[in-house]
Amino acid sequence: MPSLEEELFPSTPGKVKIDRTHTIHRQFHRCFASTSTMFLWALFLIALTASYLSFQSFVDTSSKYFTASWGGIQWEKQVRNSALIRRPAGMSVLVTGAAGFVGTHVSLALQKRGDGVVGLDNFNSYYDPSLKHARKKLLADHGVFVVDGDINDARLLAKLFDVVAFSHVMHLAAQAGVRYALENPGSYVHSNVAGLVTLLEACKAADPQPAVVWASSSSVYGLNSKTPFSESDRTDQPASLYAATKKAGEEITHTYNHIHGLSITGLRFFTVYGPWGRPDMAYFFFTRNILQGKPITIYRGKDRVDLARDFTYIDDVVKGCLGSLDTAGKSTGSGGKKRGPAPYRIFNLGNTSPVTVPELVGILEKQLKVKAKRNYVEMPGNGDVPFTHANVSLARREFGYKPTTDLQTGLKKFVKWYMSYYGYHQHGKRV
Ligand SMILES: NC(=O)c1ccc[n+]([C@@H]2O[C@H](COP(=O)([O-])OP(=O)(O)OC[C@H]3O[C@@H](n4cnc5c(N)ncnc54)[C@H](O)[C@@H]3O)[C@@H](O)[C@H]2O)c1
Repeated sequence: MPSLEEELFPSTPGKVKIDRTHTIHRQFHRCFASTSTMFLWALFLIALTASYLSFQSFVDTSSKYFTASWGGIQWEKQVRNSALIRRPAGMSVLVTGAAGFVGTHVSLALQKRGDGVVGLDNFNSYYDPSLKHARKKLLADHGVFVVDGDINDARLLAKLFDVVAFSHVMHLAAQAGVRYALENPGSYVHSNVAGLVTLLEACKAADPQPAVVWASSSSVYGLNSKTPFSESDRTDQPASLYAATKKAGEEITHTYNHIHGLSITGLRFFTVYGPWGRPDMAYFFFTRNILQGKPITIYRGKDRVDLARDFTYIDDVVKGCLGSLDTAGKSTGSGGKKRGPAPYRIFNLGNTSPVTVPELVGILEKQLKVKAKRNYVEMPGNGDVPFTHANVSLARREFGYKPTTDLQTGLKKFVKWYMSYYGYHQHGKRV
């Protein structure tokens, strides 16, 4: 019986039978003997090592942002339950940045009126994550589930849209704060530009496409001196990287509206404050320092002009967010193509009455019954603008937006929350 080798290479009469092992060895030697082939082998090995290393670094980078704390039957059940609509003609809303200050309040308000809400937040450590976890707990107590994940995680977003046909996305996740850009500029690009595009891609691909309402910022008015700021004013002189990424967001959302038919509403918030607020904002850390007897730094503009802000109470901003969601027209795209024009809107959400920073400190002193140790400093060039002042007539016309809380009343509510959250007695002593 012929061997397998003989079957493949039958011996022909008159010819010497081929010795395969010998031939392979010879070819192998010939191959390596040639210098150019050796060079090619070396190149191949280098390319192999390089691609292995870059794959490793890709895996490392991805896992830094996307720790797989989502997925599974139990997780999907939590997402579905949280998205349940409990009122006629209600909406199901994906709220990004839900463990953030504004996100928590908006999620609670939506849930309270019977809408379905699913939160998404990456709990980053830009400021104390324990505050974000406390907000998550508050939301969980009200039946709102916050997914721990990053808006750059396209797989997670696709999964969420797969589990729930969200009618709306309230996009509040962002790298906030103006001064931090000097320290960590990449975080602004990561969340406010790359993350925004990943989220819009997911919205574009979703069927049905949701309407998107998202937080831009009053900072887009940059160095404008015309007041009050109106939506039609120029926004091409940003004073900070934060402002520049928010302005980029307005342009990016416009293209998704134009090409893919996404319904877009951009909201320019003006210095939002209130209970469960952000520890990186002046009213918050002034309160902490005053209570601890530490000095506070108050910036002044050119010629010792006081800085002023159009401080807007959180409940007013929440009303503006819900009004925007309620009046957002439908997206018109499907399968990545638009079937007709979709709305593209931008609104100021401010208070319309700026207050200077020293006045703000005066109100805090009264509420806390402690004198502040004021340290006036000329404003460094760190991205802050000298003043903000909103014209809100567009939002008033479109959905009846009317801010009703003045700074005294709003700060009183903030201080009450601060004292109870951080465990202070009424007279500023810690419990
Ligand atoms: N609070 C204000 O005064 C103010 C003013 C203008 C604009 N805004 C904008 O409003 C929105 C909400 O602001 P806020 O004050 O609640 O800030 P916040 O920092 O409290 O909330 C933002 C949340 O988004 C999360 N987040 C950040 N990057 C993320 C990412 N890549 N993936 C998932 N989650 C991410 C954060 O962990 C945070 O909980 C932001 O877009 C902010 O830029 C706020």
